[in-house]
Amino acid sequence: MTAVGIDAIELWSGKLRLDLAETFAPVKGEDPGKYTKGIGIEYSSLPDVYEDIVTMGANAAKQLMDRKGLTPEDIGRIDVATESAFDNSKPVSTYIAGCLEQVYDGDFHHANKGERKFACLSGTQCLDDAYNWIRAGRNRGRAALVIATDTALYERGDPGEATQGAGAVAMLIDEEPDIVALSTEQGYGSADETDFLKPNQQFPSVDGKRSIQVYLARMREALEDYESVAGDTHPEDFVYFPFHTPYPGMVRKAALLGYRHITRDTEIEDALADDIGMQPREENYETREDYEEAIRAYMDELKGTRQYQEWYEQAIEPTIQVSGQVGNWYTASVHLARLSALRAAASEDVDLAGEKMLVGSYGSGAQAEIHAETVRDGWREGVEGLDVDAQLADRYDLSFEEYELVHDVHNHQKEVEVEEFTQPEGEFVFTGWGRMNERRYEYVE
Ligand code: COA
Repeated sequence: MTAVGIDAIELWSGKLRLDLAETFAPVKGEDPGKYTKGIGIEYSSLPDVYEDIVTMGANAAKQLMDRKGLTPEDIGRIDVATESAFDNSKPVSTYIAGCLEQVYDGDFHHANKGERKFACLSGTQCLDDAYNWIRAGRNRGRAALVIATDTALYERGDPGEATQGAGAVAMLIDEEPDIVALSTEQGYGSADETDFLKPNQQFPSVDGKRSIQVYLARMREALEDYESVAGDTHPEDFVYFPFHTPYPGMVRKAALLGYRHITRDTEIEDALADDIGMQPREENYETREDYEEAIRAYMDELKGTRQYQEWYEQAIEPTIQVSGQVGNWYTASVHLARLSALRAAASEDVDLAGEKMLVGSYGSGAQAEIHAETVRDGWREGVEGLDVDAQLADRYDLSFEEYELVHDVHNHQKEVEVEEFTQPEGEFVFTGWGRMNERRYEYVE
């Protein structure tokens, strides 16, 4: 069967940054360690006044098309994933196509465009749609452009404010891809939940503590569902485990639970037994409460074992490096985690071709999805050319007063005039509103 998967990746970060330890923590009266160690984010990327989900998505897509030497005719679909849309009817993909048509010969008139919604999961659902479209033989030899783009802003003072972020990831989905091939096997964990939602409002209503429990419960269901079709998973089957990363602290919790699950009934559980005992089995406990308490005690011990820590350093830590520098990019976050791991491997000169990753996506509301990806021969070239370090280093460092202005500029309820902090160059920018309240964009040389 022809491999189908991700042939190219590019990202575009918001051009401003908020330093959580130096700038945010003192104003909040919090210990900086809460953000850098507990939550795990050093900086949030934020959009400059001329940036939004369209400019960031279009800029990432243009970088991708330029690097791959593509023309509009090579693209048969443009799917955008976002939970920051500003229009309930016109999809962001039409705006992005309009931007790209300003700079390329030809057009996207015969490309199918859409917008997917399921909180942070929808980027992965767009990959599914592209995969299925290609597998069904409906692509006429063309590739799909998937763009996950978000301005993840919270109400000022909401606990989520510490996890904000803004940026886009563009991915090209094609046959015989250069970076990873997607597995046909998938697992789902899905339930009607009220953990994070935006009922016709810009900033989310969040039950942060509950969202942690829902994330873990749905991921576990998805893993069990994945194993029911792909067979049991073992830590050594996968080189990395990129998970949806609302903030690295969340992934730390998921990783520990996941490790317990995938080491149960393996030689690793046996090897750990002398030090921390065997994993609790529910049938050995009289009540559910007793069983859950035993699980918590086992997990506390497991966290401190050499085996777990080595696995975490090698299989999880590389996936959260970029997230810790940019914050939550919602729909793009799991795709940043994959990219983060591939970049870490490239910088350490690890040979990944043929290795597998287990990718866990999650969207509040809530649904988790788990699938495997096989790294392809062209992965190194595919990630080495990216300008991630330069983009992150070039961000303008905001003072707290400037951050307050930036938050207001992007608040749909407010009208404030603020000077831009950076100078746009070789990129799409937002220029204002048209007569039907549409947003307008142009390319700045
Ligand atoms: N040094 C090290 N760690 C510290 C610390 C310090 N000085 N101070 C606090 N911490 C740790 C806490 O122990 C906690 O870690 P734990 O959960 O492993 O115990 C972490 O930092 C966060 O502290 P907490 O007091 O829980 O923060 P909070 O009440 O302000 O809320 C969130 C944190 C994540 C719930 C909040 O940011 C939020 O609602 N985020 C949006 C929702 C979200 O992203 N949900 C995820 C699922 S998609």
